[in-house]
Amino acid sequence: MIICRTKAEMRETVRNWKAERATVGLVPTMGYLHEGHLGLVRMARGTVDRTVASIFVNPTQFGVNEDLDTYPRDEARDLELLEREGVGAVFLPGVEEMYRPGEPAYVEVPELSGILQGALRPGHFRGVSTVVTKLFNIVTPDLAVFGEKDYQQLTLIRQMVRDLDMPLEILGHPTVREPDGLAMSSRNVRLKPDHRQEAVALNEALDKAEAMAKTRPSISDLEMAVRSRLENSRSATTESIDIRDADTLEEVSGPFDRPVVILLAVRYGTVLLIDQRVVAPEL
Ligand code: PAJ
Repeated sequence: MIICRTKAEMRETVRNWKAERATVGLVPTMGYLHEGHLGLVRMARGTVDRTVASIFVNPTQFGVNEDLDTYPRDEARDLELLEREGVGAVFLPGVEEMYRPGEPAYVEVPELSGILQGALRPGHFRGVSTVVTKLFNIVTPDLAVFGEKDYQQLTLIRQMVRDLDMPLEILGHPTVREPDGLAMSSRNVRLKPDHRQEAVALNEALDKAEAMAKTRPSISDLEMAVRSRLENSRSATTESIDIRDADTLEEVSGPFDRPVVILLAVRYGTVLLIDQRVVAPEL
């Protein structure tokens, strides 16, 4: 496994692979890897000849009061896991390697970056679309894999790639969960033990909505079912429950007549958890 800390090393590695006509896949991450990330790596490995994983805690997608400084890191362990998965190269740039001082150029997907999580975290999605564009330009992959767990991020990247004619394919990977159903996240380690137990509420609320979908509910019935399950979790603060068109993230209301995505943001103490489920009506 080749470790590239500079853009020049990364470009040279990919140039050599492409000279052998190998196809290249990219899995962008911020490190502190868990089975969710490794699922994405396996999906790339199964589709292309050479896989690059990037590890970069991107400062431009964190707000001033967010957890950039305390974001968990464990480079040695991450490298060991990626080596075991048969990754061809890891891109591990420092902040100075990725960003020059001053106000840089950026890429933005205006509508999608201003709604939902983007309304709660101004600037977040501009940071994501910009760093992902930079990674695409440095690695020039044929394909990149993103998790459905960050559904708005996946939708935004798909739109960016389509609208800007970026020459690669985007694959979405289903959310990987702990045995009790909690979506895997680097932030889960910060949950207090009692909060960790209660946090199954997100997945259970989504299960409840999915089961209910068979009974031809209205959109507001679905929302009420989710809300009441979350209210049973005593330590939870429900930040948002959004039910949106599964493709465009446009608002939906009234009858449940097309695939929707249910997006949850729930806080336990200081830890914000997100989860999602796509639910389609029975025809
Ligand atoms: P990070 O939170 O490290 O996540 C990296 C990738 O792993 C994302 O595509 C995310 O959706 C996926 N992922 C995380 N947990 C998952 C789970 N439980 N199941 C399936 N996929 C999961 O998302 C980012 O980093 C950054 O915004 C990034 C895209 C790297 C840009 O900086």
